[in-house]
Amino acid sequence: MEKQKANILKFKEMKQQGKKITMVTAYDFAMMSQVDKSDIDMILVGDSAAMTMMGYEGTVQINLDTMLVFCQAVANAGKHTFLVGDMPFMTYEISTEQAMTNAGRIIREGRMDAVKLEGGERMADTVTAIVRAGIPVMGHIGLTPQSAAQLGGFNVQGKKLQDAKQIVKDALALEKAGAFAIVLEAIPSPVAKIITESVQVPTIGIGAGNKCDGQVLVIHDLLGLFDRFIPKFVKRYANLGADMQKALNTYSAEVREGIFPDKEHSFTMPQDLVQQLTAELQEEGIL
Ligand code: KIV
Repeated sequence: MEKQKANILKFKEMKQQGKKITMVTAYDFAMMSQVDKSDIDMILVGDSAAMTMMGYEGTVQINLDTMLVFCQAVANAGKHTFLVGDMPFMTYEISTEQAMTNAGRIIREGRMDAVKLEGGERMADTVTAIVRAGIPVMGHIGLTPQSAAQLGGFNVQGKKLQDAKQIVKDALALEKAGAFAIVLEAIPSPVAKIITESVQVPTIGIGAGNKCDGQVLVIHDLLGLFDRFIPKFVKRYANLGADMQKALNTYSAEVREGIFPDKEHSFTMPQDLVQQLTAELQEEGIL
């Protein structure tokens, strides 16, 4: 049976019914074609594309125009999956007008169903403004990679009492502002549990334990395509990097040994036509 595309009401219903929501990142047509055929509920065109697709050390380098290219490629394949597009660093922090304009571009040009932005209480007015414009917003708190420099690195957040309290307040502020879901990244599981039980909207965890309403992973991490570092919260479900190495080296060896291309992968021509071609080329002095 073909997968039914979910929407924000369905995600709320899933939370109420205790059904887990599954989410991965996606950045291109080929990968999204596979995700769309799977039973994953929702994808994120994450600004992690700066790292996984472009090789940067963090996420702040990617700009909106580049994100839009990834969004469009994903939207071309994502027919049965809810699509969320990340708002890149400095495309929503300057003013609510800036945020609304750029969220609009992600929806209209990037053909996403919703946008995601980082920050809790400090971003509440921005979330409200975008939601009032009719655009679903997913919040993102805890470890917010766009502020990694300010946080002192990609570290677990909310381990101290005051920090944990602030993260809970951030979640409540995002819910009040109208966010339809909240990503909780790299926080202690008990803090994620408190938040999940305190808000009506789904929480989507990444490094936040199993009490969240759903989980998200970066697809390159999950499939074994990103070797630079593997965070503690990542579980590898495949090792496609190793599979790719094997395929590439086999191809390379077969080309070198004259095994590929063989008859099966070549186009042929009747022998008499080949003879005629050679004769005529010689007669006409072409060869
Ligand atoms: O950009 C991203 O991939 C993300 C996820 C880690 C939630 O924000």
